[in-house]
Amino acid sequence: MEVKADSRKFYEIECDALAVSVFEGEKPESGVLAELDQRIGGVLTSLIETGEFIGKASESAYVHSTGEMKARRLLLLGAGKRDEFKADNVRRMAGVAARTLRGKKARTFAFLQRFGLDASECAQAATEGALLALFEPDKYHTSDKTESHLDQMMIATDGNELDATKTGIERGRIIAEATNFGREVINEPSNVMTPTEMASKAAEVAKAYGLTLDVLDEDQMRELGMGSLLGVAQGSAEPAKLIVLSYKPKTKSDETVAIVGKGVTFDTGGISIKPADGMEKMKYDMAGGATTIAAMRAIAQLKPSVNVLGIVPATENMPGGRAQRPGDVVRAMTGKTIEVINTDAEGRLILADAVAYARKLGATKIVDLATLTGAVSIALGDVYVAILGNNQEWIDTVIAAAKKSGEKFWQLPLDKEYREQIKSEIADIKNVGGRKAGTITGAYFIREFVEDTPWVHLDIAGTAWNESTKPYLAIGPTGVCVRTLVNLVC
Ligand code: BES
Ligand code: ZN
Ligand code: MN
Repeated sequence: MEVKADSRKFYEIECDALAVSVFEGEKPESGVLAELDQRIGGVLTSLIETGEFIGKASESAYVHSTGEMKARRLLLLGAGKRDEFKADNVRRMAGVAARTLRGKKARTFAFLQRFGLDASECAQAATEGALLALFEPDKYHTSDKTESHLDQMMIATDGNELDATKTGIERGRIIAEATNFGREVINEPSNVMTPTEMASKAAEVAKAYGLTLDVLDEDQMRELGMGSLLGVAQGSAEPAKLIVLSYKPKTKSDETVAIVGKGVTFDTGGISIKPADGMEKMKYDMAGGATTIAAMRAIAQLKPSVNVLGIVPATENMPGGRAQRPGDVVRAMTGKTIEVINTDAEGRLILADAVAYARKLGATKIVDLATLTGAVSIALGDVYVAILGNNQEWIDTVIAAAKKSGEKFWQLPLDKEYREQIKSEIADIKNVGGRKAGTITGAYFIREFVEDTPWVHLDIAGTAWNESTKPYLAIGPTGVCVRTLVNLVC
């Protein structure tokens, strides 16, 4: 779908539907709403007076317009309480509008900006909301595919805000298209999206948007001493890949932000095998890696002034004849020895070598993201991403970027006391810390390999997959963190 800015009066815009937001308790007594109400013969007043539409968040009402405007339909969107209103409400309303109107077979719609927030920020949010909402994970349906004729969204704005609106649309489009690309990659089944295939997705991005790509094979990993990553990979017939995308700004920078994403293309648990029930979901265990590649795609287009690395350790976690066993001891690239108590705690094992490699490549700041623990869903459900780290300033910077993106992050502690839980009798560290504080001990393990580089860890196991279709979002991969990562560096 194309998104454009339009500075005509709302009633002049020729389209299938006009989407207009109304705050809770708002009456069409003045301004645009009054004008709209007049042009449609008081329908808005009557919808509000009868209580059929009261402007609550995520509420909507669809009416045929017989009035004095060029739009053939009107979609009213509840904006919720005015004093709680944020750009993220715009994102959701645009999402509801796009999905609702697609269902009504609309081809074009206008989205009226009347929020009193920054025009560029709103246009960006509206563009993101609509494009993210239209994503459907139905690539493999051969019948009953979701039909869409929606090919144009016009963001209606005042003439003096036209340039700001255009800027916001462009940024929103780049970020949303990158996110949807990431969601497609995550949604692929594991027989398609192997580590090798992930590397070729990274190659596509590198070629299209001008990034440098380096893909390390297992021999190169062995030379570098990545025994922790290779230990996970050894149970699989699919060769592991360490994917490195690199962005460099025009003017030299001393800062290098490394984004490191877990790319387990299927997690059986290995010899510590998972129960069959729900195991098919473990195809999304590479969400962190796909998100990294997606963020790099947007970053390459938005051209920030710092160096950015996107690093994805990609492997399967399989229980093959050569698979590592519980009790095995492996040596990571940093030289630390690890007792592998549970082969299903594989994410931290591959990230240990990947974050160490990020440092070797000169990272001055690290963000890793991973579907690391089931425990994060127990703690935070599917609402918040868990954020932990070794440097409060860097944590706060990442949280601020999340706020700006409308993504919810919640910090968990990472005090030294938790180190006790991952002490090993036989090696420097063990890969699980028992039932207590699973998300924290998982993060603590990775912390041991970043040494003193400012680092944050994002556990997205609870938030990377949407379990049921929402009015503004399809079931399936959410693409969580793409927006935050992009806002963090650009
Ligand atoms: N990939 C899983 C975590 C996960 C669980 C992601 C559910 C998405 C949904 C991870 O590799 C894993 O198996 N973690 C174990 C760790 C445990 C063995 C310490 C877990 O959470 O049970
Ligand atoms: Zn896993
Ligand atoms: Mn696992």
